[in-house]
Amino acid sequence: MRINSPQDQTIIGESPSFLEIIDQCSRAAKHDRPVLVIGERGTGKELIAARLHFLSPRWDKSFIQVNCAALPENLLESELFGHEAGAFTGASVRRIGRFEAANNGTLFLDEIAITSLPAQEKLLRVTEYGTFQRIGSNKTIQTDVRLIGATNIDLPTAADRGDFRHDLLDRLALDVITLPPLRHRLDDILLLAYQFGQRVAQERKWESFPGFSDDMADALMQHNWPGNIRELKNVIERAVYHAEDEFTAIDTMEIDPFESPYRPRANMQKTPIEPATIEDSSKDNMPQEEGQIFNGKPIDYGQTITTIERRLLEDALKSNKYNQREAAKFLNLTYHQLRHQLKKHGLL
Ligand SMILES: Nc1ncnc2c1ncn2[C@@H]1O[C@H](COP(=O)(O)OP(=O)(O)OP(=O)(O)O)[C@@H](O)[C@H]1O
Ligand SMILES: [Mg+2]
Repeated sequence: MRINSPQDQTIIGESPSFLEIIDQCSRAAKHDRPVLVIGERGTGKELIAARLHFLSPRWDKSFIQVNCAALPENLLESELFGHEAGAFTGASVRRIGRFEAANNGTLFLDEIAITSLPAQEKLLRVTEYGTFQRIGSNKTIQTDVRLIGATNIDLPTAADRGDFRHDLLDRLALDVITLPPLRHRLDDILLLAYQFGQRVAQERKWESFPGFSDDMADALMQHNWPGNIRELKNVIERAVYHAEDEFTAIDTMEIDPFESPYRPRANMQKTPIEPATIEDSSKDNMPQEEGQIFNGKPIDYGQTITTIERRLLEDALKSNKYNQREAAKFLNLTYHQLRHQLKKHGLL
């Protein structure tokens, strides 16, 4: 499924979890109510927010976006609500805030969880009554703005910790759209990869896009994509830019372009990163520092060996740009032995 948003961004996906979100988005767009868009990094929150606006009755009015994490606390309030001349040092002229500028349209507050508690109080007022005051003014201004908030933070937990107002959360949570991470949209990985690859092929003025080799397609499906669609896009763009010609299916990718034996040591991770997919109770017993095998606690031999085997396979794949034939050579295994091991560890 391809949906062209007026912002020249094509939203791609056909997995059931994604199509459900698209339906929910179309329904929510029609109600003139606040919406919260929640999702891990790089899952497409900005695209969904734009879609909510452009499918809404306000589509031909302004769509204003503010990234709350990009401004210091004091400037954010002035950005949102405006200020009068002389309201604070440096405020030499009156400035109209985003709530005024977005009147009759939509205001998209990205990273909304970052807002300070005083700013949240003002947000509550403006979402409830449509009123606010510029900083340094007593005059109440009326505005008609539809608010969309986005975050990758679990807001109910933030509210329980006292970092986010419960009353504002209740007000914003009239519609909550939670985007699935890419690892729950397996059907979409190759679809998205192909689309991103095709775009680069066009930029490189290739006549056609040669697609991906079977090994590369397998590797794309196996990766956990912690950075979601943004990470996939970057990896594919890099792979297609580095490809030699348009006649050979793309066969290698570089997940981490900083990976190098010459990487400055000061920047290296001190302890090995456990792959996110391993749910392994024995990881406390993995070697913590060079030269140390156990950390004093008894260890489960079988489970530890399994963890080590899996790490070897994952690292070999990574160091060989997910080319399974190269990874097999690297580990002194035959291709079939490697495939057998990958299957055993659920990596295929
Ligand atoms: N369904 C999709 N189809 C095509 N491209 C997508 C899709 N979802 C996301 N993208 C692309 O992935 C990248 C990340 O998307 P976006 O910026 O909307 O994510 P985000 O959830 O706002 O991330 P962050 O939390 O880091 O701000 C963008 O380049 C976007 O165009
Ligand atoms: Mg974003």
